Order: sequence, then structure tokens, then C-alpha cells
Amino acid sequence: MIKEKTNIAVFISGRGTNLKALILRSNKNSCNYKIAFVVSNKKNAAGLKIAKKNKILTKIISKQFLKAEQKKLAKILINKNIQFICLAGFMKILSPYFLNFFKNKVINIHPSLLPKYKGLNTHHRALKAKEKFSGCTIHYVSKKLDSGKIIAKKKVKILKKDTIKKLEKRVLKEENKLYPIVLEKLIMS
Ligand code: GAR
Repeated sequence: MIKEKTNIAVFISGRGTNLKALILRSNKNSCNYKIAFVVSNKKNAAGLKIAKKNKILTKIISKQFLKAEQKKLAKILINKNIQFICLAGFMKILSPYFLNFFKNKVINIHPSLLPKYKGLNTHHRALKAKEKFSGCTIHYVSKKLDSGKIIAKKKVKILKKDTIKKLEKRVLKEENKLYPIVLEKLIMS
């Protein structure tokens, strides 16, 4: 019997390399998930083009994203039988009200080895602190920023000649590899 693929929503704000990596993996027959919906809080996010090219439904949310709109979006996602929401460069904090609709179903990828360097400018801060390693972390989203239970991490060695850009590029490459693998495992478990 062919098992149906699990429906996933991805929330973005920008260029969408992680979204693209998740879609590429999902296009394989053996993959256990399907990206069924993409949400962006930025109408010009480059990632939206990737979604459209792959014929994935998209929705733009407003800057305010008040409770009524949150409830409406939650209903749409529930009706589409979305089992996980993957935040992929989504630079907006989701309210406890919204998260309550999707308990243990919202995950995020963050460009540092959490609990170190929550928030913004992670690469700059890791370099300034002369860390030997940086990397990325996938974690459950909780009410506190970048603080939910950790699911997986990937270390990246910091090199002597590293700049923010060089380090970001190497970490992003690992993010793009890690996210699809972890999502598949999470669905299997
Ligand atoms: C990624 O590096 C992701 O880890 C980061 O934004 C970038 C999005 O890139 N997310 C955060 O900083 C969230 N705290 P992408 O749009 O190419 O996937």
C-alpha cells in the first residue's frame, strides 16, 4: 500500500533556500512529506517565486497579524491537514495564541548552535566571540524566542580567515542539508 505523504507548511520571509531544499527533497518519490502551503509575511519574499514555480499555494500575512487573521490562517492550515509548520527564515514571532493551534508541530531552523546566539546577527557574534565552531539548530518553537526543545544540530568549523559572509554560506549549506533529513525523521517517529 502506498502511504500518503504528510502535508507540511513552510513559513518564510526572504530568499527561501531552506524552502527550496525542502521542496527538492519532497519531489522524490521516497520522501514522506509534501509542501502543501507556503506563508510569507513579506509580499516580495524571493521564496514566494520558488513556491509558485512549484505550484504550491501561498499566502501573505499582514504586518499586524491580529488574532482574527491568526485564527483564519490556523483554520486554513488545519483544513489542509498540515501536520508540521517549518519556519525557514521566518522573521516574525508567532504568538502563543497561534502556536496553541499547533502544539509540538511548529519547528524552526536557526543559524547558530543553540542555546548560543539566539536572535539576530548570529555569525557576527560567533566570530566576535572567537568561537571555534558555529552551525545550525533545528528546534521546536515555543513561546520564548529560539528556546524550544532542540531536535538536531550540525556543527560547522570556524576558519581563521572566516568573514560573516563566508561563515553564513557554509552554515546555510548545512541548514539546507539538515532540514529535509530532520523533517523526514520527525514524521517517521
Ligand atoms: C537561514 O539562515 C535561517 O537559519 C535564518 O534565516 C536564514 C533564512 O535563509 N533564520 C533565522 O535567523 C531565524 N531565527 P533562507 O530564506 O535562504 O532559508
